Amino acid sequence: MDFDLTQDQREIQALTREFARAEIDPHAAEWDREHHFPRELYGRLAELGLMGVCVPEEYGGGGADFLSYILVLEELSRADAGVGVTVAVHTSAATLPLLAYGTDEQKSRFVPPLARGEQLGAFALTEAEAGSDAGALRTRAEAAGDGWTITGAKQWITNGRHAGTFILFARTDPEIAGARGVSAFILDAEHVRVTRDEEKLGLNSSATNDIVVEGARIGRDRLLHEENRGFRVAMGTLDGGRIGIAAQALGIAQAGYEVAREYAAERRAFGHRIGDFQAIQHKLADMSMEIDATRLLVYRAAWLKQQGRRHTEEGAKAKLFASEMARRQTAEAIQILGGYGYTKEFPVERYYRDAKITEIYEGTSEIQRLVIARSILGMTERSLVVR
Ligand code: CAA
Repeated sequence: MDFDLTQDQREIQALTREFARAEIDPHAAEWDREHHFPRELYGRLAELGLMGVCVPEEYGGGGADFLSYILVLEELSRADAGVGVTVAVHTSAATLPLLAYGTDEQKSRFVPPLARGEQLGAFALTEAEAGSDAGALRTRAEAAGDGWTITGAKQWITNGRHAGTFILFARTDPEIAGARGVSAFILDAEHVRVTRDEEKLGLNSSATNDIVVEGARIGRDRLLHEENRGFRVAMGTLDGGRIGIAAQALGIAQAGYEVAREYAAERRAFGHRIGDFQAIQHKLADMSMEIDATRLLVYRAAWLKQQGRRHTEEGAKAKLFASEMARRQTAEAIQILGGYGYTKEFPVERYYRDAKITEIYEGTSEIQRLVIARSILGMTERSLVVR
């Protein structure tokens, strides 16, 4: 067992940390306040190779491993979790499934513009009545000539307004209810119309959109993986994506901890620094311990994935623990800062708002528990869903 990062991983971590400290952190409060999507930032991240860091070089990526990508997400999210989710969805939910399930032609055609950051990617699974029960989706793909006509509406699509490529899930077999009649497709921005910009509690520097697809005609070259096997694409993609969200939560919690620790060393009350009081020391000790525990879970899941080993259960555990920890510990950071923590003078209230979503997207905490329970009990799919 080796707990040290490799030289390459350390360099990528340092590069991202440095960039985030100089180019993201100083603007994060303003982007949050103004609900500003920093489109130009992604070109600069691309110049550093960070929009496809774990994509093989032959497809325009950085050729690093999955753990390096996780380190990138952690560092970006430490500065601005909205930037973190934009890169996370672009990479693990849009680019990596093309590599994992695409034909050679699809990989060479669709991956390089994403890996080089010339386009952003999006993942369109969720619908108004298909959130946790993703298999209930109603977007239709009707056979037409040598392809399909796609019609439907998707909700809460990260990057929707800015994406050039969408991995979109639609029902190809209307006779089969649930997950089995679903296929995955590769759509372009021109197939999609954005109908709404979502207003959110946090993550205000990221874009979350409702989109519609209105009779888009596509050929067979746009089918990702086999027909009616698209739900496997969705689930396999989310297995890896959840590790990314865990890294995002970890980065947010780390940021909250650092502000709280610094504040405790300076703020004085009752004639002492508040860090001299045991009540504050215990909070900081718990924060540090829980962040360490999370980091081990997250890096283990990433390592399993890059070894090509099963990581469904470990990714769900990492995401569940990281997200609940981030929500809990960013609240503690506010508590340590007291009244200041509740104001916009310090960033911890933003961290708290941003942390909350990590318990919801890419599978709620309840769904992560379901995934873990199925795995540890050796239960077959659907057997833990009460119908
Ligand atoms: N890997 C590969 N395939 C898998 C799989 C996995 N981890 N888990 C299930 N499957 C396959 C099954 O084998 C089955 O395939 P076959 O039909 O070919 O046998 C198929 O998927 C259906 O599986 P289930 O019977 O388990 O399906 P279910 O209806 O019981 O649903 C669920 C399972 C876990 C509840 C699933 O619906 C789920 O994960 N829900 C949460 C959805 C979610 O995470 N949405 C996130 C949206 S994206 C997002 O948030 C991005 C963002 O913006 C940040």
